[in-house]
Amino acid sequence: MDMNMFPDDGVNSWNTVMLIYDSAIKKMRTKVEILNDEFQQVHQYNPIEYTKTRLKTPESIVKKLKKNGYDVSIPSMIEHCNDIAGVRIVCSFTSDIYQIAEMIGRQADITVVSIKDYIKNPKESGYKSYHMLVTLPIYLSDRAVDTKVEIQIRTIGMDFWASLEHKIYYKFEGNAPDYISSDLRECSEIVSMMDTKMLQLNDAIMRTKLEEEEKERVQKERMVNNWKNNL
Ligand code: GTP
Ligand code: MG
Repeated sequence: MDMNMFPDDGVNSWNTVMLIYDSAIKKMRTKVEILNDEFQQVHQYNPIEYTKTRLKTPESIVKKLKKNGYDVSIPSMIEHCNDIAGVRIVCSFTSDIYQIAEMIGRQADITVVSIKDYIKNPKESGYKSYHMLVTLPIYLSDRAVDTKVEIQIRTIGMDFWASLEHKIYYKFEGNAPDYISSDLRECSEIVSMMDTKMLQLNDAIMRTKLEEEEKERVQKERMVNNWKNNL
C-alpha cells in the first residue's frame, strides 16, 4: 500500500502497529479456544461453533477515517478506528453468548471498554449480535501496548442472517427496495424464534439426560445395597 497514506509520526511505524493488532487477534483466539475447551469439560458440549478473525485492510481503515471526518494518520487510526482487530464468535445458543461474554469480561488482562447489545436492542435493519470493545496488553520487547479488539458474539442463525443481509445490501449499495428491507426484518424475527425454540429443545434434552443418569445411579445404588444385605 502507499505508505504516504499514513505519514509516520516517527514513533509507531505502520508495520509495528499492524503487528500489534495481529498479535491481539492471536491472543484473543487462544483465549476463546481455552474457554471453549473448559466449557466442553464442564458442560459436555461446545458452546462455540466457530470463530472468525480479521485484520482490517489499510483501504478500509482509510475509508472509515475519512467517512467519519478524522485525519488519516497512525495516531488517529489507533484512537478512532475500534475495529482494526476483529473477532467474531459464533455460538449454538443465545444463552451461550452471555456466558462467553461474561467469561471474557472477567479475565484479568482484559478491559471491557464498551458493550453494544444488539440482541436486547436490535438495529433498525433487524441486525442482532452482542458487541464488546475490549483492550488487552500486547508485550513487545521493550513495552506493553494496550490494544483494542472488537468482539462480535452471535448465534449461527444471527450469523447466517447478517452475512446474507450484508450481501444483499452490498448489491443494492445500501438502497434496497422497501419490501426487501421489511422481508429482512421479518427473517430476523424468524431467526429469533428458531434460536428460542432450539434453546428450549436443548434444555429439554439436557434435562432428560440428567434424569436418566440419576435413575441409573439410584438403580445401581439399590443393587449394591441389596447385594451387601445378602452377604
Ligand atoms: P461500523 O462503522 O460499521 O464499524 O459501525 P459502528 O462503529 O457504529 O459499530 P457497530 O457496533 O454498530 O457495528 C460494527 C459492526 O457490526 C459492523 O462493521 C458490522 O460487522 C456489524 N453490523 C452492524 N450493523 C449491521 C447490520 O445492520 N447488518 C450487518 N450485516 N452487520 C452489521
Ligand atoms: Mg466495523
